[in-house]
Amino acid sequence: MADDLIKRAAGDLAESRHAIALTGAGMSTESNIPDFRGPKGIWTLNKEAEAKAYERYDLFLNDPRAYWEEIVGLRGTYGAFHGQIREAEPNAGHHALAELEALGVLKCVITQNIDGLHKKAGSKKVLEYHGSVNAVRCVSCGSRFAWEEVSLDELPPRCKCGAVLKDDVVHFKEPIPSDVMEKSEREALGCDLMLICGTSAVVYPFANLPRMARHRARSLIAELDVVGHTSKVKIIEVNADPTPLTEEGISDYLIRGKLGEILPRIVEEVKKNLKG
Ligand code: APR
Ligand code: ZN
Repeated sequence: MADDLIKRAAGDLAESRHAIALTGAGMSTESNIPDFRGPKGIWTLNKEAEAKAYERYDLFLNDPRAYWEEIVGLRGTYGAFHGQIREAEPNAGHHALAELEALGVLKCVITQNIDGLHKKAGSKKVLEYHGSVNAVRCVSCGSRFAWEEVSLDELPPRCKCGAVLKDDVVHFKEPIPSDVMEKSEREALGCDLMLICGTSAVVYPFANLPRMARHRARSLIAELDVVGHTSKVKIIEVNADPTPLTEEGISDYLIRGKLGEILPRIVEEVKKNLKG
């Protein structure tokens, strides 16, 4: 079964004109970063932590100093958790997507992951939809900085425009930065193949992207002037479990299994196809 679907996915990828990948926390569990809603997920095992995560953006808005004290570890474990993430290394799944890009088959990765592992694996075109632990962002002018560029002598740190800075990670209830949001929608409307890897597809607005690709609104295409749009799109899921995209028929098929095993096999088959 998986063999046939792996060959099918490789054929679809080799034929594609503009294939993109959408990824979630399932990409990084084989890099020892737990996911959220899987059997051993952070939220699955710790409902309190999930409730606290919904308060984090309000804390930033209401008391940015206290928020930053958590970041720099003067309070709580938030800072330490992100420190762990920065230590992680990409796995075979990340490397497979980077190789698909190097082969010219994959044009872009849109990820919900804040761990920076796609870039660490060598992927060049990566849209970090929920931000990154490796950057700091100005909530006013949108500028981004590396941590080394930001002085934490005074909390909260401020941007050159005078506004308060925030770590780049996007929290629940926080708006998705408009630059990443627009680029991601363009990719979703301009792709002819979407490879969805390791996400439960229940968090919005990210979970809208596959639906936008499937139900492309002609008017949106005209408005955004997407070059060379096509009315056909193939949507392939690779995940340990089915998702609402599977159940609602948004995706064409699901390959069930571990990403670190399946994605490298897809790459091997793609290479055979490209050799022809
Ligand atoms: N191989 C394949 N699938 C896997 C693997 C693996 N090695 N490990 C986990 N999975 C699957 C899980 O079964 C689950 O269906 O990946 C999915 C991960 O789903 P979530 O934990 O919900 O993660 P994600 O979809 O990325 O969450 C979205 O929610 O908590 C917020 O901001 C956070 O970006 C995150 C967003
Ligand atoms: Zn600014």
